[in-house]
Amino acid sequence: MGQPKKRIAVLLSGRGSNFEALLKACADEDYPAEIVAVASDKPEAFGLKTAADAGIATACFKRADYASKAEHEAALLNFLASIEPDYVCLAGYMRLLSAHFVGSFENRILNIHPSLLPKFPGLDTHQRAIYAGESEHGCTVHLVDAGMDTGPILAQAKVPVLPNDTADDLAARILVEEHKLYAATLKNLIEAE
Ligand code: GRF
Repeated sequence: MGQPKKRIAVLLSGRGSNFEALLKACADEDYPAEIVAVASDKPEAFGLKTAADAGIATACFKRADYASKAEHEAALLNFLASIEPDYVCLAGYMRLLSAHFVGSFENRILNIHPSLLPKFPGLDTHQRAIYAGESEHGCTVHLVDAGMDTGPILAQAKVPVLPNDTADDLAARILVEEHKLYAATLKNLIEAE
């Protein structure tokens, strides 16, 4: 018997392809983690359906149902407390977490961001990289702090920006790398504990 698998909670707001990639990695018996819950702020998030179909516990906390950001986060934290995750993986979760939230899981919240941070934090990274004339672009897995895509960088993957690339071309090229990088980085982090 190896080590018990680390418990992962995933937060997402949409498509959930990075969640699916993590789920596939977790299907390997040698992978050191399992996904125990998926939570979202968007009831229509496709990733929630994928999770439910896979028999994973799901929960949704719409921001509009709470009077304040603090109350919204408190509901999510309460859910996470019931799940007892070792790590929280943000996978397209489109909300900035407060210092209080981040402090509740210090150095245990990861995010994947579609740029070579510290370049292009925030949104529309692919179009911004093209406008900036970058010859390389990519993705970053980092620990989450209370800033916007500012936490310590764990790993990056690069792709070339090709002549005539549209933002969609570049996004598709990088997404392939995101899916590999997130699972590999989480594994490395767990194995380095
Ligand atoms: C990805 O590009 C990720 O890097 C960013 O949001 C997007 C989410 O895509 N944070 P998906 O929902 O995982 O398919």
